[in-house]
Amino acid sequence: MGAGIAEVTMDAGIEVKMYDVKEDMLSTAKKTIWGNIQKKIDKRILRKIDAEKMFMSIQSANKLSQIAHTDIIIEAVVEKMEVKKSIIQEVEQLGNASLIFASNTSSLSITEMAEGSKHRDKIIGMHYFSPVPKMPLLEIVKTPYTSDSTLANAYDLGVRQGKTCIVVKDGPGFYVNRILSPYLNECLLMMEEGVSVEQIDRALTSKGFPVGPLKLMDEVGIDIVVHATNANRDYASKRKGYMPNQGLDKMFAAGYLGKKNKKGFYLYDAATGKSTGTNTAILPFFQTEKKRENTIEAICDRAIYLMLKEAKSCLDEGIISSEQDGNLGAIFGIGFMPYTGGPFSMIQSMGHDSFTAKLTSLAANYGARFDPS
Ligand SMILES: NC(=O)c1ccc[n+]([C@@H]2O[C@H](COP(=O)([O-])OP(=O)(O)OC[C@H]3O[C@@H](n4cnc5c(N)ncnc54)[C@H](O)[C@@H]3O)[C@@H](O)[C@H]2O)c1
Repeated sequence: MGAGIAEVTMDAGIEVKMYDVKEDMLSTAKKTIWGNIQKKIDKRILRKIDAEKMFMSIQSANKLSQIAHTDIIIEAVVEKMEVKKSIIQEVEQLGNASLIFASNTSSLSITEMAEGSKHRDKIIGMHYFSPVPKMPLLEIVKTPYTSDSTLANAYDLGVRQGKTCIVVKDGPGFYVNRILSPYLNECLLMMEEGVSVEQIDRALTSKGFPVGPLKLMDEVGIDIVVHATNANRDYASKRKGYMPNQGLDKMFAAGYLGKKNKKGFYLYDAATGKSTGTNTAILPFFQTEKKRENTIEAICDRAIYLMLKEAKSCLDEGIISSEQDGNLGAIFGIGFMPYTGGPFSMIQSMGHDSFTAKLTSLAANYGARFDPS
């Protein structure tokens, strides 16, 4: 993620300093960035001379002190609160009171990070999506302490990086991961009812999602999905009809990380990394007695309507401030069926009464988690 963020910042013509505890990660990041630049040179999007000049604007740093006197630090280190907090404290000791500290965390509380900081108003979330140079969305996460000037600076940087920015309130999963979570869980529950990986992924891609939910988890990393789910568990467990799947944790515990270790819902060719088909070895993790027939329509309804319901809760709770942000976030962050115009346009097209009636009927068939109230 760090390499991607550095690349889009370099593309914006802004000087970048990259820092990592492992120096070899810096050269790997630079190689990745140069590889992407080379593709643009090959396609004649960039002249080599300009590309080289741009590339020189990225410098490596091997000490935190070398990056402390910049305008903004965008942190993309391991997903551990104690590591993030200790970096904030270390940076603060280096004495740049005007520094903005942005975290790219996908599941940790930005508010908690701010509460461990001397300059709470300067802490903000800048949640990019993978792969950063390709994904257009940036979720900017504000806490009750974030100042308007910190927010404006982060927003300005996101726009210069070419991102479509939505400002969201801090809360479990922010907006995009929060609406994704019940959708993914429902697909895993369907696997426990005997629906195959192929059936689920094919049903949702045929509806217009760019990638099926199970393939998506392989792409993002099973570990990342499990961490995000665990971080949301306290919150989710208080919801009506909460019914978590049992299989994903077991998959993770057995060492399945998805595409990154070529072991996930799919199998991958060791040399090319390309998917070679579904992985039947994971089926025992999802074996239960709860067998049920699910048509393509039922698969799509179950997954999509829960996502719509969650999007609506996010608006009601002020996580997003407008339907437009909710539509943009879902389409640009997840690839939510673009032809619908996004979750809120979809609800509007069908009418609120029909939406409520559909949820009520799904609740009667599949459980209280669909209950519209
Ligand atoms: N992978 C994704 O799809 C994704 C998407 C959005 C956000 N994120 C978030 O981005 C962050 C990084 O994720 P990633 O997938 O790039 O992880 P990663 O494990 O690939 O990279 C983390 C990097 O942090 C470095 N690091 C660890 N401790 C450090 C320290 N104390 N100081 C400096 N560097 C340190 C590691 O050496 C490593 O290079 C996480 O917070 C994650 O939640 C990831």
